[in-house]
Amino acid sequence: MVYNISIITGDGIGPEISDVCLNVLYAIRDKFNIKLNITLVKAGDNCYAQYGNALPEETIKKIQSSDVCIKAPVGQTAASVIVKLRQLLSLYANVRPAVNLPNVDSIGKNVDLVIVRENTEDLYKGYEFTADDVAVAMRVISKKACYKISEYAFQLAELRNKKRQVVAIHKNNVLKETCGLFLKTANQVSKNYSNIKFSDMLVDTAAMNLIREPEKFDVILTTNMFGDILSDEIAQIVGGLGLAPSGNIGDDFAIFEPVHGSAPDIAGKGLANPIAIILSTKMMFEWLSIKYKDSNLLEISNNINNSVNFLLANKYTTPDIGGTLTTSLVQKKLVDSLLRA
Ligand code: NAI
Ligand code: MG
Repeated sequence: MVYNISIITGDGIGPEISDVCLNVLYAIRDKFNIKLNITLVKAGDNCYAQYGNALPEETIKKIQSSDVCIKAPVGQTAASVIVKLRQLLSLYANVRPAVNLPNVDSIGKNVDLVIVRENTEDLYKGYEFTADDVAVAMRVISKKACYKISEYAFQLAELRNKKRQVVAIHKNNVLKETCGLFLKTANQVSKNYSNIKFSDMLVDTAAMNLIREPEKFDVILTTNMFGDILSDEIAQIVGGLGLAPSGNIGDDFAIFEPVHGSAPDIAGKGLANPIAIILSTKMMFEWLSIKYKDSNLLEISNNINNSVNFLLANKYTTPDIGGTLTTSLVQKKLVDSLLRA
């Protein structure tokens, strides 16, 4: 089987880290003798400057005709690119793991958690308007989306088979209707998973507890904006944004991307940490292996993980996590390690 992978090369540090990703995919293709058909596609600020559209129809078509997509970060046009793609392709689950990595300074110890964030509605639906001096944003929460994301979280808690626990994070003491519906639905779904411990927590308390005792969490189920904010927090708890991967997952398609943005402050300087996009690529192979029942791809995903751990253990990293290497030197070490493994 040929796996068709589209890659959005993005803005800022996007092209630098997509280049690392591309070279890792080439190494994997050579080593494992699998067929990868890779298509680079344009979206984001530079694309807007060039074509007057941050997400051209041609890009959408190319992404839709691939089996899976990897996305490097885009800049100011993020809402017109990734928020739009999530809604357009019904990528309802945003999955963001945080786990302690070898030789990386972290706030938390023994952390192994994952945020499952609803990815298609909430305030990110984009229903905003201004009347005179008042600006209004509408928070849309539907039972259907709450149900789908809750099912996803409970199934993931089963699959992970770790603490077997889901905590729903909300603010239902203030947002009685929207968070009320979210929590009620999560509660209903929990009844079908008697082997998974279910609890809930207010988002402000969760922000505190994630710093105080992150090792207590397993699967965090939450709405779009809370998940967006908490996922940067959990990234920092285990070492920083340069290490944080994510997946936007639907029933038939997925886009994998680093949690971080286009980091314009360090673009073009060789300082971009490529590990977040590489761990996102690892997540992609896991997802493909389940979707196409191809155990070869799971082996590839494990190989990527081992190679990243090798880099970290030897401090072959960029300065954001204490190393001294440039992005392209990290790429070289990574590819060498993958080919050697
Ligand atoms: P950011 O994540 O780009 O950067 C925050 C800080 O982390 C900066 O100091 C940056 O240098 C550092 N950083 C981020 N990724 C890094 C990496 N791989 N290696 C080393 N250091 C790294 O967030 P910021 O500055 O708030 O946003 C910049 C742009 O990114 C904005 O235009 C925003 O709209 C966009 N953005 C796009 C996203 C996407 O495409 N999904 C997600 C988040 C932000
Ligand atoms: Mg974010």
